[in-house]
Amino acid sequence: MAKIFITYQIPSIAQELLEQAGHTVTVHTDEALITRDTLLQSVKEYDAVLSLLTEKIDQEVLAAAGPQLKIIANYAVGFDNIDVKAAQVKHITITNTPDVLNEAVAEHAISLLVAVARRIVEADRFTRAGKYKGWRPLLLLGTQLKDKTIGIVGLGRIGTAVARRAKLGFGMKIAYNDIKPNAEFEAEFGATFYSELDAMLPHVDALSLHVPLIDATHHLINKERLAHMKTTAFLINTSRGPVIDEYALVQALRSHTIAGAALDVFEQEPELASGLDELENVVVTPHIASATIETRTAMAELAAKNIIAVLEGKLPLTPVT
Ligand code: GLV
Ligand code: GLV
Repeated sequence: MAKIFITYQIPSIAQELLEQAGHTVTVHTDEALITRDTLLQSVKEYDAVLSLLTEKIDQEVLAAAGPQLKIIANYAVGFDNIDVKAAQVKHITITNTPDVLNEAVAEHAISLLVAVARRIVEADRFTRAGKYKGWRPLLLLGTQLKDKTIGIVGLGRIGTAVARRAKLGFGMKIAYNDIKPNAEFEAEFGATFYSELDAMLPHVDALSLHVPLIDATHHLINKERLAHMKTTAFLINTSRGPVIDEYALVQALRSHTIAGAALDVFEQEPELASGLDELENVVVTPHIASATIETRTAMAELAAKNIIAVLEGKLPLTPVT
């Protein structure tokens, strides 16, 4: 019987599965996130930790881990919050929650695109403010998506799910940038491959980011790249905040270098870059792309199953390396 710490309340299926497997589960139930001290203490005490993307599992935490700690199961697909190399040194398994969130994140990315292109949130603000005085031919004109081109940056599972919706749902054309081309994808979607992001930027009406946060993708979208985009283009981010230089984005939106942005993630979460929230041509959501009942439940189940497998000496379902 092992001792497991869940660092915040998640769907109860995780605790249920872990207890059914015979383990003892402690859940941090406070509204506030766990403190750094609690995190440092937990890796000394528990056999497994189920952690959030807001917890920095860095060199210090992993160095503090006792020999009993077998696994840290990250409740997210992105694991930029974890020093994977330092975990390997200590033979601590790291798992994430891929795949189960692809559809939810793709639905959110498309929702953001529609929201910014059709000015949904701005129109809602307008209507609630009592400014609607009757139908007008030129009131709140947006941009049609049909026949426009969406550029997917990072054609992984989520990027592919976004492309499918954009093509089949809205009749958009697909461009994509990745390390290597995908012939099957191109055949199915009539997609155009760009090995260089810079070459793709002038051709897209919407740019949707689906890369992990690593050194090479930090500030991937910067002042120069924003200047390469069409002035009518929209930028969508459901990946990680620091992939965009948010200060440069605010400048670009103010000066109408691009038409708008819709962001679910931010560079200094939960803070927004100064001035971002004053812009009409921006839609912001608080990191909720995977936040459906179905997906958050599936993530809890997968994280628990990873822990159960590792504690039984088996391979986890979704290790990060
Ligand atoms: C959420 O941002 C995740 O990485 O799962
Ligand atoms: C708009 O409401 C229309 O009927 O065209």
